[in-house]
Amino acid sequence: MQWYICVLASMWLILTVHSELSSYSFPEDFAFGVSSSAYQIEGAAFEDGKGISIWDFSLHNNPDLVSDRSNGDVACDSYHKWKEDIQLLKNLGVNVYRFSISWPRIIPSGYKGSTINQKGVDFYSTFIDELLAENILPLVTIYHWDLPQNLQDKGGWLNETIIDDYLYFAETVIQLFGDRVKHWITFNEPFYICEYGYSEGSLAPFLNESGVGVYKCSHNLLIAHGRIYREYEKKYKTTQKGIMGIAINSGWFEPKEDNDSDREAAEQILLFSLGMHLHPVITGNYPAIMIERIDSISKAEGYTQSRLPKFTEKEKEMLRGSFDFIGLNHYSTALATFVDADFYNQPSFSYDSGVSATPNPSWESSIAQPGMQMVPEGLRKLLVWIKDRYQNPPVLITENGWATGEGLNDESRIRCINGYLSAVLKAIHEDGCRVIGYSHWSLLDNFEWLGGYRIRMGLVEVDFNNTERTRTPKKSYEVYKKIIDSRKLDV
Ligand SMILES: *[C@@H]1O[C@H](CO)[C@@H](O)[C@H](O)[C@H]1NC(C)=O
Ligand SMILES: *[C@@H]1O[C@H](CO)[C@@H](O)[C@H](O)[C@H]1NC(C)=O
Ligand SMILES: *[C@@H]1O[C@H](CO)[C@@H](O)[C@H](O)[C@H]1NC(C)=O
Ligand SMILES: *[C@@H]1O[C@H](CO)[C@@H](O)[C@H](O)[C@H]1NC(C)=O
Repeated sequence: MQWYICVLASMWLILTVHSELSSYSFPEDFAFGVSSSAYQIEGAAFEDGKGISIWDFSLHNNPDLVSDRSNGDVACDSYHKWKEDIQLLKNLGVNVYRFSISWPRIIPSGYKGSTINQKGVDFYSTFIDELLAENILPLVTIYHWDLPQNLQDKGGWLNETIIDDYLYFAETVIQLFGDRVKHWITFNEPFYICEYGYSEGSLAPFLNESGVGVYKCSHNLLIAHGRIYREYEKKYKTTQKGIMGIAINSGWFEPKEDNDSDREAAEQILLFSLGMHLHPVITGNYPAIMIERIDSISKAEGYTQSRLPKFTEKEKEMLRGSFDFIGLNHYSTALATFVDADFYNQPSFSYDSGVSATPNPSWESSIAQPGMQMVPEGLRKLLVWIKDRYQNPPVLITENGWATGEGLNDESRIRCINGYLSAVLKAIHEDGCRVIGYSHWSLLDNFEWLGGYRIRMGLVEVDFNNTERTRTPKKSYEVYKKIIDSRKLDV
């Protein structure tokens, strides 16, 4: 009886998922890729002259921060096994590979003007050459969370002197690799860097300046983004012929109840979370509602200045339109509603936003990461929102994926790929969104930050118990390969 119901239920699921699959094709110039980041895959944390990053430092000092007490010392050992990674990429048939360059591997002490580590340079240089030899375009994230610890000792992203240090690092990699790298991302997920790193104390450097750190950090980071974008535009773009963007993370928010107040709450939380970084890069300033609310809440709290810093007119001009494409990391959707004044601690970003975002029990949740819910339609709505609000900028989906436990038979990840890519096809063909590519997170199971190695997000399984870090493609790898090859979903 139970078996019978189970078969019926899965047939129903297969039928509904398939009936929702779009039969449109992906445009010829649509880029398919997979994404990764240095600390999460490379390992070799103390080899060949690499400096110490905030993640090396924090996790060695306090291993309990990570659920399985692991760290990225070895990770997937991609620093040594990169040839295998390239074979997996080649076989998968991707057009692009998104990876990041470790700042402390290139500039061990971090500071502007300090020594460049030739062994680190050689590693990335060879890697890029080999990718290009296989016809895979490198999509390079300049900063993906692994700040040199030396710079953190001086305040990290809270200290405006970091802007010059970042510019030195970024310009160094552009000079070294820009003859071959044509696709640059200045920062990965400013919201996580600033809110979780400097305000909530839940990602490196684990600082807790609630409601203050998030805005100081964001402000310095945005100015650093704008400055390197303009520098690249002025000095390198015409000769190197590349493009540059920023990868911003955002969920989608549905109103908790179908009423005007919750609809307004959903819009407000989107303007606070996505808008905090996207709005300045496109328009030159923070969303008006953020400025108004944070200014007035700060005043009521007795601050002499708003906790949200102000851009000068020159900075606004520099930031306005500082992108060639918008990178979008999207995983999940939540339900939004306004909260009572005593719901959040003060001061905090959440209090400033005035909105709570909670899961919907009727959507599918990831077993490995319950806050992650599979709502492909949310991606489509987010793409349409960006198109309508910002005159349809080119969007590159720089991350999307699904968290599972171990195992090669990853049906839920396959549903994620089919569902979200179907939403992308409808956004392109029915809504007219300029989506230029999709890069799945991730090629390999890797170090998933505080989730350690328990959370698996790869198309390829990695055996972290084996010193060889053996790689085995999962079922989803074959499904994605077929999609890339046919440029269609399997309908
Ligand atoms: C900011 O950084 C500079 C140089 O890196 C340093 O001299 C200064 O003390 C730092 N400020 C704070 C508040 O740490
Ligand atoms: C950070 O500070 C806030 C407000 O002081 C507090 O509620 C919160 O628990 C702290 N978080 C951590 C991770 O220490
Ligand atoms: C809308 O729904 C929320 C619950 O999500 C409720 O708190 C609020 O009062 C409702 N607003 C209106 C105008 O009905
Ligand atoms: C690795 O070891 C852990 C703990 O002993 C175990 O739970 C897990 O199944 C092992 N993984 C593999 C791929 O063998």
